[in-house]
Amino acid sequence: MSLKPSSSSSTDGRAAAPRIVVFGSLNMDLVVRVPHAPAAGETLLGHSIADIPGGKGANQAVSCARQGGSVRMIGCVGDDAHGKALRDSLERDGIDTASLRTVAGEPTGTALILVEDSGQNRIVMIPGANARLEADEAALKQQVQGAAFLVAQFETPLDQVARAIAVAHEAGCKVLLNPSPVQAIAEPLWPKIDTLVVNEIEAQTLCGQSADSPEEAAHAGQALRAKGIARVVVTLGSRGAVAVDADGARHHPAPKVQAVDTTAAGDTFLGALAVALSEGQGFDEAVRLGIRAAALCIQQPGAQPSIPQRDAVLRSPMPPDWIKL
Ligand code: RIB
Repeated sequence: MSLKPSSSSSTDGRAAAPRIVVFGSLNMDLVVRVPHAPAAGETLLGHSIADIPGGKGANQAVSCARQGGSVRMIGCVGDDAHGKALRDSLERDGIDTASLRTVAGEPTGTALILVEDSGQNRIVMIPGANARLEADEAALKQQVQGAAFLVAQFETPLDQVARAIAVAHEAGCKVLLNPSPVQAIAEPLWPKIDTLVVNEIEAQTLCGQSADSPEEAAHAGQALRAKGIARVVVTLGSRGAVAVDADGARHHPAPKVQAVDTTAAGDTFLGALAVALSEGQGFDEAVRLGIRAAALCIQQPGAQPSIPQRDAVLRSPMPPDWIKL
């Protein structure tokens, strides 16, 4: 179902929405709010439990759409109520779900999420139908034609993500990768990535250097960029993000806000970044937009319901100025 223009050109003189293709996961998040994460052997009274649409791929698709992108989602759900709910949820955001496959005999992906009173979360993901996602080279070649970005994560089979990245790169479509949950990236894949978005843990796993402070994140980002990537963002939670490109590294601090639930903050950031870059905004402006979007996201509970619309992001306070590192 396509509710938005699929072309990047417009006949009425207005800039058309940038086309973004998301190759990735969809999960129903089973969200349990708890005072604190239980220790081993501890039994705890929780506050609440709820089913909320999520999954890194779907969240990133929703963020791109709410920031003004024209989005196609390539993924798999099970033939069950959660799968239907996730499809409906994407379609309400105008996302093209024609490439969203319903897999018979597989449950839809599920994420068990504990959210503490502090807003911090702990997530266990059970892939279900996500494990059945395959990169159909011929179809993908057409799907990425004229798109500004292919966006991918690592909640679906790595070999298929690698194949999708290779097809997009070959077709001249830029690749924005969020390698989460983190796994090693094969050497030939690195130069096919245009923009890499990692948190401090993912950065450390991928380059073997600590990325806990902005200065360390800058060094880690430089090491990752040296693998052949144009732009790297290392996100640092409440401390903002470090942007690294050919001009060096900048620390972008985040505005101070009260976190209710940090789930999907990284996905929200990534969607705003992808759309801003697709529109031709500068890297630093795009990172700032992502930080403002993520700051709004963490003030609301849940994954997809907490992802802000663009007008809300544009009304939100500007973060402090960035610092050259
Ligand atoms: O990034 C947040 C997402 O990670 C959640 O929505 C959950 O589904 C897990 O995949």
